[in-house]
Amino acid sequence: MYPDLQGKTVVITGAGTGLGQAMALRFGQEKANVVINYFKEEENPDDTIKEIERSGGKAIKIQGDVSKEEDIKQMIQKAVSEFGSLDIMVNNAGIENEVPSDELTLEDWNRVISTNLTGMFLGCREAIDYMLDHGIKGSVINMSSVHQQIPWPHFVHYAASKGGAKLLTETLALEYAPKGIRVNAIGPGAIDTPINAEKFADEKLKEGVVELIPMGYIGKPEEVAACAVWLSSSEASYVTGLTLYVDGGMTKYPGFQAGKG
Ligand code: BGC
Repeated sequence: MYPDLQGKTVVITGAGTGLGQAMALRFGQEKANVVINYFKEEENPDDTIKEIERSGGKAIKIQGDVSKEEDIKQMIQKAVSEFGSLDIMVNNAGIENEVPSDELTLEDWNRVISTNLTGMFLGCREAIDYMLDHGIKGSVINMSSVHQQIPWPHFVHYAASKGGAKLLTETLALEYAPKGIRVNAIGPGAIDTPINAEKFADEKLKEGVVELIPMGYIGKPEEVAACAVWLSSSEASYVTGLTLYVDGGMTKYPGFQAGKG
């Protein structure tokens, strides 16, 4: 537990499901004020709100598309009007789809880049602008991926968005370090979330993924959420510009295990 997170206000994009939802629940356990941004009604943020309230935190929801400037502005405004501040911004919303790159339509390219990268930029910009105006030494966390480093055929739009997330994070970390605003990224590997549900329902495909993970298992959303609360807390006060890989070793060249090479 991180006592300094109690009463802090955190906005999490894409928190209706998956990693965003796991982080919302964990921030709730830390007794933070959580603003849950979600995209579709089916994501059922009300259950997440109830669970957060049961664990002693406070939570509200706001629908919105992170690629729309107005929607991001409204999220921050709602956080401030409801809870009086914004201390932590988690730019988590992300999408992916598999398609050979020579068949990738411009529409799909734009859809993924505008959610994953433009949405992240807008979230960073609006949060940092608020923090600067109010003298808040806040924390921004960008949800990147192992694919900011590992090339990923059939997912070129996704990999390009995450490669962009890396330098977006590092550049902003450098730019706002003098103001005490920390900007970090988390790079999850293969985690058991709805984005992967179809793939992991197929035992063969799942086995193929597990082979790429030195620790030998698919990660749990809670294992990512645990890193997000640490990174946002004062325990990480001197950490900025980092990508914290939460990947069971996936970025460490698993093909070289057992003395190969
Ligand atoms: C993707 C997952 C994938 C994992 C490892 C993540 O960024 O969202 O679908 O399984 O990377 O390749």
